[in-house]
This record gives sequence, structure tokens and C-alpha cells, in this order.
Amino acid sequence: MSTTETNFDFKIKLVTIIGARPQIIKAAALSRAIKNKFETKIQDIIIHTGQHYDASMSEVFFDELNIPPPHYNLNTGSESHGKQTASMLAGIEDILIKENPDCIVVYGDTNSTLAAALAASKLQIPIIHIEAGLRSYNKSMPEEINRIVCDHTATLLFSPTISGYNNLIKEGFKINNAPTYNSDNPKIYHCGDVMYDNSLYFSDIAEQKTNVLKNNNLQKDEFVLATIHRNNNTDNPIRLNSLFNSLHKTALKNKIKILLPLHPRTSKLLKKNLSRELYDAIQLNTYMKTIPPVSFLEMIALEKNARLIVTDSGGVQKESYFFKKPCIILRMETEWVELVNCGAAMLVDADEKKFSEAFEHFSKEKKINFTNLFGDGKAAEFICEEILLHIKKKNNNN
Ligand code: UD1
Ligand code: UDP
Repeated sequence: MSTTETNFDFKIKLVTIIGARPQIIKAAALSRAIKNKFETKIQDIIIHTGQHYDASMSEVFFDELNIPPPHYNLNTGSESHGKQTASMLAGIEDILIKENPDCIVVYGDTNSTLAAALAASKLQIPIIHIEAGLRSYNKSMPEEINRIVCDHTATLLFSPTISGYNNLIKEGFKINNAPTYNSDNPKIYHCGDVMYDNSLYFSDIAEQKTNVLKNNNLQKDEFVLATIHRNNNTDNPIRLNSLFNSLHKTALKNKIKILLPLHPRTSKLLKKNLSRELYDAIQLNTYMKTIPPVSFLEMIALEKNARLIVTDSGGVQKESYFFKKPCIILRMETEWVELVNCGAAMLVDADEKKFSEAFEHFSKEKKINFTNLFGDGKAAEFICEEILLHIKKKNNNN
């Protein structure tokens, strides 16, 4: 038996389940921590559900962020929520039975997270939920159901923010449970954000390694970066018209460039859901530019150099804050309430008047206090340490 094989006998066996763009990015932080500090103690098997599959939504992140290639890819693809979740659930279950891990690790709130949590809980495999406790208190949002189910089946729950941690307490999670932990006696943490770990780690590399500003003819502080992908914005023609009208008018009135790296969901729906008049006007608006999704390093370079960020993305809201940029949030509510409470972000929904007021406000407001809300850049290491402390190794692993 080789030394490596012998080592597996002592390693905790994790199965990490990811599928959507932000989860692949988040997984980079844990992969890095394992590689740098815990390689002799943790074995990580990666399952990619295939929820996101375009090279620009998946492969690019594995390559750029040095994430080991997935051991399994379920190639689930796009479907209605029920079919997509069911297909992932069946595929994940088969692999979990075969691999018999000591625990699974899941991130956030996508259908991949839900399928993984259901599969593991039915096999009584402990679930580690990273980005636990976040709530929009809006159950019409598919992600809200996914998060609640995942949190309430998890054994170790790592919340990036104090408000997330407090949400868990409001839902009955106890702060003083004693080991041994399981889904009836879970452990909750406020531990900082693995996305902050990534942003710190890749910040300088992003500017050294990318040409995205030059390629798009952008100068520091002279452009707005915008992303739109939430289903209630893209699928609702009234909201989508209102959002693009706001961007179109703001660009023309303020003579400011707006760059939109567009999620494929949004690109596919622009022509269908925008009025012909607005669609044509945007094509002629030389200040506005839509491009395909960019890589993570390109995105970081854009965020660091933008004057203002406009988004309905959860991750991009936070990265705006990490890079000390004001943010206009194209939603009614946010899970990242700290950003709004400290004045760094404003919620404008799909309301053109609120959008233009927020733009005016941030054009004048220069004194935002960006205190540290997201930890010390070592959340992933902390999570690995706690997994090693509290997850029991089975003695019958393959
Ligand atoms: C999903 C998550 C959302 C997350 C987002 C991150 C759920 C319910 N939603 O939303 O929480 O914020 O990922 O980006 O899990 N598509 C492609 N190529 C791809 C992937 C998607 O063309 O590689 C298109 C397809 O038309 C698909 C649509 O985008 O139907 C939506 O993809 P899906 O994964 O269902 O949801 P997202 O909107 O990406
Ligand atoms: N992102 C990226 N390229 C893009 C748009 C976003 O790399 O073109 C990154 C972004 O920096 C952040 C993550 O994707 O780390 C956010 O994912 P997304 O907006 O798809 O989903 P959400 O965070 O809303 O779930």
C-alpha cells in the first residue's frame, strides 16, 4: 500500500457539492485552505451537478482559481426547478452511497444546494452549510426555500455575518449546544465570509493578470459595472424594461459608461422581454455595453476600478463592499442587510425614480464608512479546523 493510500485512513472524507457559478468560486477558498494547511487531514471529493455548464459559467473558474477538477459531473443542465432538483438528487445520492463520506459541504442557496442537502440528510450524512442563516424573508424567491431546508438539515452551520447568525437563533437554533453535533443538535457559527477570503487573495493578481479594462476601453472610476440575473428581474418584462430604462437613461444623462457582463439567462431574455424600442435604443447607446460573463479575476478587476456597482447578485453586492464601492441593489430586499444599514448600498427594486435618486445620492456621497463586516480573510481555514474538531471519521470509508 502506498503512503498516500495509507494516509486516507486518517483523513476526514468530505464530499463538496457545487453547481452554480458562485459556488464554484466559493469552493476555491476551501480548496486553497485544504491544499495549504490540511492536505494530510482532509480528503475532498468534488461533485459538480452541472447546473451551470457554459465554459464561462463553470470551467473558467476551475482553471483560473486552481480548483481541482471535479471527480464527478452530473451534467444536469437547465430544467424546471423540480426536474432539475430531482435529477441532481438522484445523481448525488448514488455518489454519496458509493463514496460514503464523513460529511458533505455545500454553499449558499441554489437548487444544487437543496438537492445535496436532501440527498445527504436522507442518508444521514452530516451536512456542513457554508453561508448559513441568510434570509430575504421572501419565500417567493426560490433561494429562500433552499436555504431554509439546507439550514434545518445541517450539522455545522457557518454564517458569514452577525445578522445571518441571529436569523438562525430566531429560528430556534441554540448557541450553547454541546458536542457531539448532529442535525438535531447542530452547531452554529459566525465566522466571516469565504468570498472575502477570495477577494483578498485574488485582488492584486486580478489587476496583474487581466486586460479587461483596456479591452473594454475603461478608465478607473469612470464607469459603472452592472449585473442582472435574478429570475424575478429577467423573467418579468415590466421589471426588465424598467431596469434597462434606468441604465439607459442614466448613461445618457450622466455621460457615463456602463458595462454589463450578462448572465446567459439575461442575454437570452433581453430581446424577448424588452420593448423593441428600448432594445434598439440600447444598441445605439454608445455608453452602454453588454458582454458575455467575465472570469472571476476580470470581475474583480472591474469591481476594483468601477465608480459604482449596480446589481441584483448576492455575491456582487458583497464584493462591492469588499472593494469599497457604493452599490445600487436592484431588489426589494437583501440578505446582506449590513450593507444597506451602513449606507454603502441602497435598495431600489425595479423602480426608475428610486434608481435615479440612488445614483444622485452616490454621486455626491463620499463618506461611506466601510468597516470590516466579513472577517479576517481566513474563514475557510477556520471552517476546516471546526470540521476536523467536530466531524467524526467513519471507520468503514473506502
Ligand atoms: C442560479 C441560482 C441563483 C444564483 C445563480 C448564480 C437557483 C434556483 N438559482 O440561478 O440562486 O444566484 O444561479 O448565477 O439555483 N444558463 C445557460 N448556461 C449556463 C447556465 C444557465 O445558458 O451555463 C441559462 C439557461 O437558459 C437556464 C438559465 O440560464 O435556464 C437559468 O439557469 P439556472 O441555473 O436555472 O438558474 P440561474 O438563474 O443561473
Ligand atoms: N462573477 C463573475 N463573472 C461575471 C459575473 C459574476 O466571475 O460575469 C462572479 C462575481 O464576482 C461573484 C459571483 O460571480 O463572485 C456572483 O455570482 P452570481 O452573481 O452569478 O450569483 P449570486 O451571488 O447572486 O448567487
